[in-house]
Amino acid sequence: TVLKIAAVPGDGIGKETVPEGIKVVDAAAERFGFKVEWTHFNDWTCENYAKTGTIVPGGIDEGIKILKAYDSIFLGAVGWPGVADHISLWDLLIPIRRAFGLFANVRPAQNLPGVRCPLANKKPGDIDLLIVRENVEGEYSQVGGRIYQGTEDDIAIQEAIFTRRGVDRIIRYAFELARSRPKKHLTSATKSNGIIHSMPFWDERFNAIKKEYPDVKTNQFHIDILCARLVTNPEWFDTIVASNLFGDILSDLAPAVAAGGIGVAPSSNINPKERLGLFEPVHGSAPDIYGKGIANPIGQISSGAMMLRHLGQTEAANAIDRAIAKVLADGIKTGDLGGKSSTSEVGDAVAQSVATV
Ligand code: NAI
Ligand code: MG
Repeated sequence: TVLKIAAVPGDGIGKETVPEGIKVVDAAAERFGFKVEWTHFNDWTCENYAKTGTIVPGGIDEGIKILKAYDSIFLGAVGWPGVADHISLWDLLIPIRRAFGLFANVRPAQNLPGVRCPLANKKPGDIDLLIVRENVEGEYSQVGGRIYQGTEDDIAIQEAIFTRRGVDRIIRYAFELARSRPKKHLTSATKSNGIIHSMPFWDERFNAIKKEYPDVKTNQFHIDILCARLVTNPEWFDTIVASNLFGDILSDLAPAVAAGGIGVAPSSNINPKERLGLFEPVHGSAPDIYGKGIANPIGQISSGAMMLRHLGQTEAANAIDRAIAKVLADGIKTGDLGGKSSTSEVGDAVAQSVATV
């Protein structure tokens, strides 16, 4: 087997973490007897935007045509000071998610051995969360605009779009994922008291679809109290399904609660029926630490494992997960986790471990 992967490091620490992810995926491929053919798109950056007005040379539509030829996309991060974040995000990542229909953003968060959970009394394994974020509609919408801009009467209008097709497919996929996990427990996040059209609609669809999954235990929470309970009782939760915005917030909160930060958190952006997905860490480009060789590469490496699992290389993916757990338990970790190792030292250690673990 040859897997054709488009590597897009993007901005900031993406340039430091993507090479570590590639290193580990290659080590796993070597052990399990398949090949990965990487194509590097190193100039798809905010720097290019500042020079030419688009992140992808020739524009994002051109980029999407190029990416069609690959089995998957392995992304670092997009965004850099000097280019407004809403421009950079909408000039690369969001159009890719939408063009390929990658409606499910799946983001696991666990307290791993060797990683200090900020909550007292939590042992490795106690917290095992799976955030399932709707990834192509909802609050992240281009519908709206500005009126009387720059005057005292300035108004900004931003519409959220929830379609039955879009809501149903993410809720149904979350039920499938919940059903496949030991606890079989799905929590739905909304805010149906304050947001009176879209969120009650989400609840309505959740209640209709849950009848198809009588074996899955369910709860529904408003997002505010859900956040509070996620901090005080994270081990009570299992799979959580949420809209684009709420899922985005929960997927930074969950790894912070479970593992003291977002550096370890991976994600997959997929359409479960399609081969092409996009795999990226949850974190961004971290301008505050870029260039020092201290970024935690685990979120990126772990995203590589999610990519291999999606592409059918289950044994290789499992070996990467075991190698990550071993390296962290051995104390080889970056400063954000209280360690002293550099980005590449952690990457090297995981790559070495993958060959045997
Ligand atoms: P961020 O995730 O880049 O950083 C937040 C904090 O976490 C920073 O203090 C950073 O140093 C730390 N951090 C993040 N990743 C880390 C790692 N691997 N190891 C150690 N520490 C880590 O979020 P922020 O600061 O809100 O955004 C910075 C830029 O990244 C912005 O331009 C933003 O738009 C972009 N961004 C891009 C995302 C993406 O590409 N999917 C996601 C989030 C932000
Ligand atoms: Mg985010």
